[in-house]
Amino acid sequence: MKPIGHTIIRLDEVESTSTLMLEDSAYLENHGLVVIARHQTGGRGRMGRRWASLPGGQLQFSLVLHPNLPPEEVPLLSLVSGLAVARALEDVLALSPALKWPNDVLLGGGKVCGILVEGAPGRGGRPRLVIGIGVNCDGTPGDFPPEVRASLTTLAHETGAPVDKEALLQAILAQLNALHERLAAGDKAALLAEWSRRALLRGHRVRMNAADGAREGEPVGLTAEGCLIIATDDGGQYAQLSGELEWLR
Ligand code: BTN
Repeated sequence: MKPIGHTIIRLDEVESTSTLMLEDSAYLENHGLVVIARHQTGGRGRMGRRWASLPGGQLQFSLVLHPNLPPEEVPLLSLVSGLAVARALEDVLALSPALKWPNDVLLGGGKVCGILVEGAPGRGGRPRLVIGIGVNCDGTPGDFPPEVRASLTTLAHETGAPVDKEALLQAILAQLNALHERLAAGDKAALLAEWSRRALLRGHRVRMNAADGAREGEPVGLTAEGCLIIATDDGGQYAQLSGELEWLR
């Protein structure tokens, strides 16, 4: 398998690097291809939200991944992508980011990176994933639209220094390659344990909005499949793989 990042296409402006890849099988069939853009005019976030783009001020890219994993482990790549970004921020900038399920990366309580993992069916039913990663690098929260300002931060704001986006890109790609290989080698339990060590869990309160209703509680850990386990007020616990998680505090 070629490494993730074997080819990097660099664009000045595009609607969304992820949409571009999902709409063209020539991109989707190319495992490891990366498309990076200086500006996205229609960047997309999780749950149908918009992803605000600061022209030139973010690291915004998508990559195609053909998982070398059994189907039940493919969803773990969502958690592992957040872990890869956290490790890269630690390596390049000596920061200690926190992870918020499923894959937000936080610094000082503000979101510094968002990740969108989308699947497309490939040949023989094998999934092709498009993993889109956006890291807020330059500027301050005040440069972003008012509705997202309070919840995000930027690397420059946290470190007080400009960010070498190329070094950060290469470090994230190196971590993604290493972690995908470790998962394929059966190291799932160790990676989930590392994710949990870096995660916001006990002491927080969440509401899971799922098809069968909303339930509130305290996030306490992960199942072996990467579902978030929530301890509910009635003393029970439940875990759900998909649903919209609202962080109440
Ligand atoms: C989120 O936190 O809601 C996910 C944000 C993902 C943003 C990235 S930027 C590169 C790629 N292209 C997109 O349109 N979205 C992802």
